[in-house]
Amino acid sequence: MNELEINGLDKSYGTQGVLRNLNLEVSAGTFISILGPSGSGKTTLLRVIAGFERAERGSVRLGGEVVDDETHFVEPERRRIGYVPQDGSLFPHLSVERNVGFGLARRDRRGKRVAELLDMVGLGGMAERFPHQLSGGQQQRVALARGLAIDPALVLLDEPFSSLDASLRSSVRHDVRQILKNAGTTAILVTHDQDEALSLADRVAIIREGRIRQFDTPARIYAQPSSPELAREFGDANFLEGIAKNGVVETPLGPLELENATSVEGGVSDGTKLLVLVRPEQFVLGTDHDAVGTARVLDTEFYGHDAVLKLLADFDGTTTLTVRTSDATNLPAPGSQVFLEIHGGVVAWPIV
Ligand SMILES: Nc1ncnc2c1ncn2[C@@H]1O[C@H](COP(=O)(O)OP(=O)(O)OP(=O)(O)O)[C@@H](O)[C@H]1O
Ligand SMILES: [Mg+2]
Repeated sequence: MNELEINGLDKSYGTQGVLRNLNLEVSAGTFISILGPSGSGKTTLLRVIAGFERAERGSVRLGGEVVDDETHFVEPERRRIGYVPQDGSLFPHLSVERNVGFGLARRDRRGKRVAELLDMVGLGGMAERFPHQLSGGQQQRVALARGLAIDPALVLLDEPFSSLDASLRSSVRHDVRQILKNAGTTAILVTHDQDEALSLADRVAIIREGRIRQFDTPARIYAQPSSPELAREFGDANFLEGIAKNGVVETPLGPLELENATSVEGGVSDGTKLLVLVRPEQFVLGTDHDAVGTARVLDTEFYGHDAVLKLLADFDGTTTLTVRTSDATNLPAPGSQVFLEIHGGVVAWPIV
């Protein structure tokens, strides 16, 4: 079942279009992240889902029920959503404990649940303090605990870890993920931190200028990005030119299996010129016998667990390649020649 379903959502402020024909389906119990640069519409999207903004066009469904379209609107407090806003926005006149317990029934406000949540965010001893007596990061953690307190069906987290320092950030975010997973709560985490999105989420929605460009597992975002631009953004990318033929693409480094032949817009027919993505770890430094090409070593970078080689391809003498090898103990010297193979399928896009 989909906990959240958004269809054809448009939202603008005045004449500025912010969300454009946006579609998103989040199945129950999953943890997704929305990743995009500043101003791409992430907070606006969460505010529409929570009911603080109204959709202009399209619909929002929660647990199968329409909560927003031309004819329906369900008030935010009736949506069972835990919303942790980007700025925290605590009630200044309430203690930490009362902020966290705010949405709970009166009898639960001083109970075990509030204490557990405060411990989880590392604020066990601060229940009696007021927001002005906390640092920015501590206030953000109180807001996080408050969002989780009502046992929501859906939690919306708007950059909740951004003001925590590095050591606390990784432990708090993994705790939060674990708590949500254990409770089976569906969650949407907004971030512009790539590592955070890819390491925490079951699926990542990449948003640019109010549109979702790709919604996929972290592994597929890396291995099968939907455009060359996204390929460059997520890790090192090598590009080769090739020609499509019978479901493979012929490149200067041999024929490669084409994995996105069916999803390429307009289709890939034989003879189409393609831009082919090869990730650094797809290269294998081969032996003379099975190699599909050769290259000169320009430079090597040793990282212990692996190494990165910068190569100049011999097929044209101008294409540079970034190759990652796990055999870091036996690196070829700069200036020497290496033999290359490419393993695995590739994705490619028509060159227009
Ligand atoms: N209440 C508002 N009135 C007018 N324009 C707004 C309003 N809120 C947001 N905007 C504009 O809408 C666009 C998207 O804003 P939004 O806050 O959704 O971006 P964001 O992706 O959350 O960015 P950030 O990563 O900086 O938080 C921006 O250009 C912003 O200036
Ligand atoms: Mg924002």
